[in-house]
Amino acid sequence: MSVYNEPTPMISQKSKNLRGTAIIPGDKSISHRSLILGAMCVGRTKITGLLEGQDVLDTARAMESFGAQVERSSDGVWLVDGVGVGGFSEPKRAIDCGNSGTGVRLMMGSMATTPITATFLGDESLSKRPMARVTDPLRLFGAQCYGRAGPKLPLTIVGAENPVPIRYTVPVPSAQVKSSILLAGLNSPGQTMVTEQEATRDHTERMLKGFGAVINIEKNQNGTSIILDGQPELKCQNIVVPRDPSSAAFPVCSALIVEGSDIIVPNIGLNPTRAGLFKTLREMGANLDYQNTHEEGGEPVADLRVQFSNLNGVEVPPERAASMIDEYPILAVVASFANGKTIMRGIKELRVKESDRIDAMARGLSQCGVQVEQDIDMMVIHGRGPDGVMGGITCQTFLDHRIAMAFLCMGLATKKPIEIDDYRPVMTSFPNFQELMVALGANLNISKTH
Ligand code: S3P
Repeated sequence: MSVYNEPTPMISQKSKNLRGTAIIPGDKSISHRSLILGAMCVGRTKITGLLEGQDVLDTARAMESFGAQVERSSDGVWLVDGVGVGGFSEPKRAIDCGNSGTGVRLMMGSMATTPITATFLGDESLSKRPMARVTDPLRLFGAQCYGRAGPKLPLTIVGAENPVPIRYTVPVPSAQVKSSILLAGLNSPGQTMVTEQEATRDHTERMLKGFGAVINIEKNQNGTSIILDGQPELKCQNIVVPRDPSSAAFPVCSALIVEGSDIIVPNIGLNPTRAGLFKTLREMGANLDYQNTHEEGGEPVADLRVQFSNLNGVEVPPERAASMIDEYPILAVVASFANGKTIMRGIKELRVKESDRIDAMARGLSQCGVQVEQDIDMMVIHGRGPDGVMGGITCQTFLDHRIAMAFLCMGLATKKPIEIDDYRPVMTSFPNFQELMVALGANLNISKTH
């Protein structure tokens, strides 16, 4: 998972104002999709700005197992020589997806309508996560799926010999499930229709259009339906991956809570299906400006300027949850420093992420002296405002990169340091997190005892 091969505790301590420019790595969601779609067209796709985090590297290796050639050129551009829709070959070994729910769920879709068999496995966290949400629709295409009870990983998929297109309403708000179905629909004849009641990130739809697939999107009384014409000939692309708003969230929120901070975070993807956190922070009173707003590769982007701010608690509406689903851990940190209560509703999907994120945050924050209430689908943080937050704990991160980064950011502003039990999972999504934060002025160190 990283240069460290055993749990690596890290300490975060009160820091002086954060200053400077934070160049954030590429978007994780778009990086996975670039590799997979690149592998599904004949010819060469070039990807600039690919996230080189472990999750995405695992997907790159997996695409090679399915027969594509994937290579990093000396200038950092990734080249994928794809095999075409329906052109995957059978992997010789099990596909190790590491920590990545997105990787495994999208890849299962991409091979489920091709007559090959593949076994997927992952780390301890991924092996606990529910897979029925993808195997249920993939079975309807004609695939067979065999896993541990649940089903959970390790899981084997026998791709459909004669796939049929499906019409499916996704029962949980999940871009991974929607995308898995669309990728399976690529190699099915006829039209596949997937309906979502709540809008989730739409990178797959945008990218499929970019790759030349025929895709129609219609709003109706059930939500949004995406209709894909099967068996297209995809056209190779030159992709520029925007910088990840979910990673940008960590320096942005750190600047809001560390007094005197003033930072610039350039070129951040601001797709509306991803930008819910920034909207919420502005409602809390954050000094957060969008500068140089423009479009890159079909995605809206802007430079963010963020200054330390006195914040007030807010109620985050449930219909915003999908657009900031990965940002609740760091929002919970910010809310701890705000005046008054922050109420987050409609967030039960957080319970099936890399960890149960409601529980992991509630535990760590309570230990730090913040009052937290939780229910199956909600969390309330009682912000401490001018009293500040004590800290002085070692917290468990449950192999969850976002829990780890959230508490490291918190420690920059608490009275006493915060130690996390293991820094390694951060490598899955934000490999240069420590260096980037330290360059801004953050006091983050691998624990001395280590
Ligand atoms: C992702 C979708 C979300 C998100 C994950 C990335 C994607 O998961 O939490 O980090 O790239 O499609 P769900 O689909 O489970 O909501």
